[in-house]
Amino acid sequence: MLRAKKGNIMKHLLKLMDWSREEIQETLDLADKLKAEKKAGIRHPILEGKSLGMIFEKSSTRTRVSFEVGMYDLGGQALFLSSKDLQIGRGEPVQDTARVLSRFLDGIMIRTFEQKEVEDLAENGSIPIINGLTDYCHPCQVLADLQTIREHKGSLEGKKLCYIGDGNNMANSLIVGGIKMGMRVAVACPEDYQPDAEIMKWAKENGDFLCSSDILLAAEGSDVLYTDVWASMGQESEAAMRKEIFKAYQINEQVVSVCNDGVMVLHCLPAHRGEEITAEVFEKHAAEIFDEAENRLHAQTAVLVKCLAD
Ligand code: CP
Ligand code: NVA
Repeated sequence: MLRAKKGNIMKHLLKLMDWSREEIQETLDLADKLKAEKKAGIRHPILEGKSLGMIFEKSSTRTRVSFEVGMYDLGGQALFLSSKDLQIGRGEPVQDTARVLSRFLDGIMIRTFEQKEVEDLAENGSIPIINGLTDYCHPCQVLADLQTIREHKGSLEGKKLCYIGDGNNMANSLIVGGIKMGMRVAVACPEDYQPDAEIMKWAKENGDFLCSSDILLAAEGSDVLYTDVWASMGQESEAAMRKEIFKAYQINEQVVSVCNDGVMVLHCLPAHRGEEITAEVFEKHAAEIFDEAENRLHAQTAVLVKCLAD
């Protein structure tokens, strides 16, 4: 079984950039093993007596439920901590919250706006911190995505992943995860909505990466197509404007037709049919998309083992 704290080193998952290719590989392998064992009714109560606090400053279906079930499956418990009810929502500094929660809990999963808040929690607390989505990245989702691609395609190395839409948290984490695992990555985004500039620079220096506003050019020869909402959580007031800006950045039959035979289509969900993806393409690829959603549980259970197990 994997061990979390080697010596005195705290294992966090703040962003995928912090994890090596080997660590990601180990996590995916463990996720596959845990998935197979769960289906066979085998459980590993290795987090017995441990508590994970789950701080949510944004909504969630998949992340909340999969972390809660993952902790249960490992013999521990998860506490849902809405920022609406915590003192953090009334201005208590994250530094103090981190120091207090470190005395009660064995780990924290946090979904919030600023990446800095997650980094500050890790800096000031003394327990592992797991990023459950920020405006900057969504590492847990991408571990599940990589697991799903590997499951369906057999391997990641050399496969082409094309992300179409907003250069948001999903785009940033997919670029990092894809490039680290040897995939060829292309993104198609409107010029003013490209992914993080430093991540794109790193991707160009470390792998096969393309960013274009030409969707068909980016999608050509892809093995995996990926999209996400045009307006992320916190951008609700821009939704109408974004519908106009992104209307050409849709996964539809024409985009699928320039990809490799057997292309997978993935979506982190929730999806807006008729916006970033047509209902036809979504339903045709629903089996892959819901395998991807299921793998949130298995990939995160592996992350919990890596970060929280003694
Ligand atoms: N994909 C994802 O993170 O879903 P939730 O927002 O429902 O957690
Ligand atoms: N980009 C989306 C992802 C949701 C899982 C958001 O941040 O709302």
